Amino acid sequence: ISQESQRILSASEWITKLYHHLLRYTKDGKEGYQYFKQRGITDEVIDAFQLGFAPNIKDFTAEFLAKKGFHQQTLIKAGLLSQQEDDTAADRFRGRVIFPIRNHLGKTIAFGGRTISDQEPKYLNSPESELFQKGKILYNFDLAKKHIRKQSEVVLFEGYMDVISAFQADVKNAVATLGTSLTESQARLLRRYADTVIICYDADSAGIEAAYKAAELLQKAGCRVKIANLRENMDPDDFITQFGTKQFHDEVLKASLTFTSFYMRYLKKDFNLTLEGDRIQYIEKVLKYLARIDSSVEREYYLKEISHAYNVSMESLQQEIQVYRQKMG
Ligand code: UTP
Ligand code: MN
Ligand code: MN
Ligand code: MN
Ligand code: MN
Repeated sequence: ISQESQRILSASEWITKLYHHLLRYTKDGKEGYQYFKQRGITDEVIDAFQLGFAPNIKDFTAEFLAKKGFHQQTLIKAGLLSQQEDDTAADRFRGRVIFPIRNHLGKTIAFGGRTISDQEPKYLNSPESELFQKGKILYNFDLAKKHIRKQSEVVLFEGYMDVISAFQADVKNAVATLGTSLTESQARLLRRYADTVIICYDADSAGIEAAYKAAELLQKAGCRVKIANLRENMDPDDFITQFGTKQFHDEVLKASLTFTSFYMRYLKKDFNLTLEGDRIQYIEKVLKYLARIDSSVEREYYLKEISHAYNVSMESLQQEIQVYRQKMG
């Protein structure tokens, strides 16, 4: 890597330690500490993720790092400072709690910062650089990878706080994308470490849509995909905070859906199933999908579900599916 990237890594390491120290041990970081306490995060987990706080002071970071010999230009490149409208530079993350983002070697290469006071945007991330490409990094991959390999399973989340709550609930094989959709490169990386990916995105419409897209990519990369069984409109962190570790394991992770079950539910969004015409179209669409499944046992399992739910005979469902299968050749 370039000499400039070396400098950026070094500045990032200093600032990770500083923000973390402020949060843990000083008055300047107390607001941040209280924020995480309010959200139920333990000191041990704060330390494991090196969570921090950037004081709400414009040139705090620049002054600290200037003393360590860093030029302002480097800090702007590193994304720690941002150019203001009046052309001066100010701390990008001021007044936010800090989530250091580490690469697979455990080196901090970027930061996420969350407001603790309803500012927009809720989360700010470092800009992309030679060191930091969002589409190639997974949050917490460095700590999770040995657990992922051992279990041959990984749990994929949307957010930093979901990963941190899961970690605290003893789900150590947890990673997250960084506010963007899963990429092919991330899917391939996960495939190298695990056979199975449990997608545990937020159970809101954006999360469900993203889960469907991620599942397609992961299956293409050769992963077996399951979808966590979260209640409507919750996110994993909400669930853990409200219902605790045991229920998260038993009712959300262990009760994960197969991709097929998830997809059969997912398809319903386009139909009004109280209307007969829509019901028939929905069933046709499901059958088209099920026709692609090679195992006849698996096909029959889902056909039975449809047969019961919509009061259609197994014979006619089987006949219909054979027609689709013949068309596929
Ligand atoms: P969510 O909006 O689901 O946030 O975004 P969250 O993780 O549940 O946040 P809390 O619980 O309110 O703290 C999921 C992820 O999307 C990215 C972040 O990486 C976040 O963790 N994101 C979200 C952004 O990059 N910017 C935003 O403004 C919001
Ligand atoms: Mn510490
Ligand atoms: Mn979300
Ligand atoms: Mn969320
Ligand atoms: Mn959340």
